Amino acid sequence: MSGKNLEAKRHRKYLLKLFAKGSKQYWPIMALSSVSIIISLTLGDIIFTYLVSKILVDLSTDRVASFDAYRGYIYTIIAIEIVSLVLRRVASFSEERFDAKSRVAISKIIFDKLLEHSASFHQNRFVGTTVTLISKTADAFGRTSAIWIYSILPMLVVFIGTGVLMLPRLPLYFICLVVTGTLFLILVLKLLPTQMKLATDASREVTRMYGAMSDAISNIAAVKAESGEGLEQEKISEIGELILEKNLRYANRALIRDSLIANSVNRSLRTLAVIVAIVVANGSNQDISNLYLATTLTMTFLTNIWTFGDSLSELTLYYGDAAPIVPMLEAEISIKDKKNADELVKVRGKIEIERVSFQYPKLDTYVFDDLNLTINAGERVGIVGRSGAGKSTLVKMIMRFIDPTKGDIKLDGISTRSITQESLRNNISYVAQEPMLFHRSVLQNITYGSENVTDEEIQRVLERSHALEFINELPKGLDSIVGERGVNLSGGQRQRIVIARAMLKNAPILILDEATSALDSESEGYVQAAFAELMKGRTTLVIAHRLSTLLNMSRIIVFEHGQMIEDGTHAQLVKDRGIYSGLWEHQAGGFLPQS
Ligand SMILES: Nc1ncnc2c1ncn2[C@@H]1O[C@H](COP(=O)(O)OP(=O)(O)OP(=O)(O)O)[C@@H](O)[C@H]1O
Ligand SMILES: [Mg+2]
Repeated sequence: MSGKNLEAKRHRKYLLKLFAKGSKQYWPIMALSSVSIIISLTLGDIIFTYLVSKILVDLSTDRVASFDAYRGYIYTIIAIEIVSLVLRRVASFSEERFDAKSRVAISKIIFDKLLEHSASFHQNRFVGTTVTLISKTADAFGRTSAIWIYSILPMLVVFIGTGVLMLPRLPLYFICLVVTGTLFLILVLKLLPTQMKLATDASREVTRMYGAMSDAISNIAAVKAESGEGLEQEKISEIGELILEKNLRYANRALIRDSLIANSVNRSLRTLAVIVAIVVANGSNQDISNLYLATTLTMTFLTNIWTFGDSLSELTLYYGDAAPIVPMLEAEISIKDKKNADELVKVRGKIEIERVSFQYPKLDTYVFDDLNLTINAGERVGIVGRSGAGKSTLVKMIMRFIDPTKGDIKLDGISTRSITQESLRNNISYVAQEPMLFHRSVLQNITYGSENVTDEEIQRVLERSHALEFINELPKGLDSIVGERGVNLSGGQRQRIVIARAMLKNAPILILDEATSALDSESEGYVQAAFAELMKGRTTLVIAHRLSTLLNMSRIIVFEHGQMIEDGTHAQLVKDRGIYSGLWEHQAGGFLPQS
């Protein structure tokens, strides 16, 4: 088997397992639906046909009997129709419930799994693509259950019913039917793998298109600013062309070529089966009911087998929709808690960076090469360096958003790899360089990550972060929705919300990555004062380009090309006349009052 086929097989297995896991708890609902459809079809298709055949026999042998003689049949048929109708509704209703419930459950399983992946795993993918994949997969699973109820079970019922009725009457005929039916199914199954591949190809392009659309829409401001609408439309049109091309290949193969083959075989079988029925029934002097049963059941049987074959083809489309998510779900989780990882309890806050080298995947150059740095508990460290020097990367390693390529990072002497990520991050108040806000209310954004906070505490951080003044002016105050990623707020307002969030969290370690860069200098002064208060007794790392914000740090470290090139107090570094001193003079001379 080729590598691609093996992969497809593994994907199928994975998807089946996922489906079983997501739907297991709802199997009783599916069982109800299955039993209902089985009884409904047995009554409506098999017993009904059987009764009609009985009536035919009676009519042909006893033409003079009054209508009364058939009353029993008629009542039974009416009863059958009513029960069959009701049960069919039960089957449809429960199938729909099963479908909805398992879709939700499977979406949740996928979401949980995706949340386990590191931030960089997702940052390297289009959000739109990921979300489209989840939706397509859940949808594909939902539709599969309908195939079971409306296609597979009917085929089985008709097959068994036909067997029960025909075996005692025309065994040879039934065997012919089974053989032809099986041959037909084998043919259909043979056609499936190529269909699956083509369906997956087409579906991938569709997902790619949604990914590109979401990229354009989430960056709509840039699109507008650069008048990039035409460019974006062109890009979508290009993918659209590819979708059409791949879809055409699928349609040509599945719906024209394969379908034509399968349909011709099926129709030939049907005609053949009728001829055989006549020959067999005639030759053995059978009564008319057998001929009736043979022809009617053959039609039903072959129609069902045909529908089943068609459903298999449809399944290939669903497989195509679901398969592309498998590599994402299977991908190794890059940042994982160790087995029996320790819970960090009382943190003092000593951070040791030991011989750390770091390289972003697929990049040749190292951001850090053999870096050693010890930050003592309670120390307030300012980190300075040119853009791209690796400051944010260092912080991300301490937070364990990424792991060093070589070396180790320790907190209070314990490797951060051997403590749970949750307990590590619970002990760090972090303001990221890009303020990340949820499309929720201001209050929800501020309290995110902090549990059981009192109104007084919230009030206090709102004052200290200088967020109160603008929040009071928002239409709904704290309950105002900030828009996706906080688009309804100004840059400085967004920053004040994440500052408030970090202040409220009140963790023993404080990390600020350009936390006040978007604030006006007056607010920045106030917020800095509040931070100075907060830093007391806590290990603090502050990354800043505006050096005035680092004046009350106990130590300043300067990075360049992944190396720590200066380390000392502000006064020492200014005196040393190195890079820091140059930057300081430049800024002080440029726009900062010397303090
Ligand atoms: N996710 C990533 N994948 C690949 N390379 C990255 C990634 N993030 C950052 N880099 C690269 O790593 C280097 C260090 O980036 P980093 O964000 O740590 O710089 P920085 O010192 O924080 O810069 P700034 O002052 O502009 O915030 C840069 O060359 C950057 O291009
Ligand atoms: Mg940075």
